Amino acid sequence: MKIYQILDECVAEDIVQVKGWILRKRNMGNTCFMIIRDGTGTIQIAIKRDDNTKERLSSIMKESSVTVTGKIVIDNRAPGGKEIHVENENLVIVGNSKPIIQVNTSSNTHALFENRHLVLREERLTNVLKLRYYIDELFRKFFRENNLIGVTPPTITGQQVEGGSTLFNVPFYKEKGYLTQSSQLYLESVLATFGNVYCIMPSYRAEKSATRRHLSEFTHVEAELSFITFEELLDFIERMIRFVVNTLIDEHGKLVEKLNPGFKKLDNKPFTRMTYATFIQELNDAGYLNPKTNMKYNYGDDVTESVERKFIDNYGKPVFITRFPTKMKAFYMEPCKDNKDETYSTDLLLPNVGEVVGGSMRIWDYKELENKLKENNLKVKDYKWYTDQRIYGTVPHGGFGLGMERLIMWITGQDHVKDCCLYPRFMGRLVP
Ligand code: 4AD
Repeated sequence: MKIYQILDECVAEDIVQVKGWILRKRNMGNTCFMIIRDGTGTIQIAIKRDDNTKERLSSIMKESSVTVTGKIVIDNRAPGGKEIHVENENLVIVGNSKPIIQVNTSSNTHALFENRHLVLREERLTNVLKLRYYIDELFRKFFRENNLIGVTPPTITGQQVEGGSTLFNVPFYKEKGYLTQSSQLYLESVLATFGNVYCIMPSYRAEKSATRRHLSEFTHVEAELSFITFEELLDFIERMIRFVVNTLIDEHGKLVEKLNPGFKKLDNKPFTRMTYATFIQELNDAGYLNPKTNMKYNYGDDVTESVERKFIDNYGKPVFITRFPTKMKAFYMEPCKDNKDETYSTDLLLPNVGEVVGGSMRIWDYKELENKLKENNLKVKDYKWYTDQRIYGTVPHGGFGLGMERLIMWITGQDHVKDCCLYPRFMGRLVP
């Protein structure tokens, strides 16, 4: 039986069998207690310690895999209110474990990453990664309920999406090859096929900066929607975030509370929408200085991560920053009709992290896009498969990309995106 079934269904005197791993072990008087974990939950077992069993019991190591058979006893002192009383001979060791490295936050980070495969057994990380799985499922559910079709674009590509400075080269093909920075262009290319489309795929950035929120490989939740306006795009992102967070708390609220006490469901008040120009004004009014110049922020400056964080932490709730200057943003972003120097673009900022979503309307006029590619020194012919949509039935459209690890960092209150994925990739870390 799985442990969650035992906790849910079994009553006193039931005979049960559990297969799992020893999470913790301690002796109290004449009893040896072990907590067994099987992935669905944990349960305590109790075995009598006497002259015949003492030696064997003390030789059993934490993390050994075991099969135990015994009788359910109701005991409020046991975690979960039930424990299994087991005879020594009914505790069968399947695979012994060597003494496991002690993992705690004070262990040195190099050792923690070298031993990530063992550290991953730790409760906090296990819980973060379980929530990650539930969050991933909720995104897919939201997209399905909103009639988006999921696709799997290639991650080895011939084109850059987000500028050359963070490109990973793939030196294998006759032409220049890269690891993708974003699947956006591929999503746009199949709008006429599917109407609305999404993917949850890895993206890669050769990021040299070591920050709390940058990985060189991250999971990118991206969607592209046809026949929409900019306001509708923002509404969609907002609905999606509210759905994922609130359903997650409905279904797994206890786990979220354990990791991030006080993290609450989102209310129905619309997220604040603030233009980039107002954002800069607010930063200056609040007295923030641009750390690069030690002066007030100017219109057109990139807002440094630490300042963005302080701003949004003070705000305490999600904020859309909109209409970034055309000069600051990628070639595909649509300039605003009333001011060509600004784009229909957005970054969604969330507390504890800063930017978690980046999105925009896309240029849907062929000539305009061709000019933009040239302005950005990109070869128009390399993007034919992308620009062709503007010739074969073009439509207004827009989309976004959300960093899965950053969203998880917000919800679970982790200090770093590295703790929001299985085996993080960043400068200097390629194993395990
Ligand atoms: O703002 P970005 O660069 O936007 C794009 O790539 C668009 N083409 C996406 C789209 O419209 N389909 O990245 C989108 C999000 C960021 O807001 C951030 O959450 C995440 O991707 N991200 C990273 N996450 C972890 N490590 C990195 N190095 C990241 N770079 C971007």
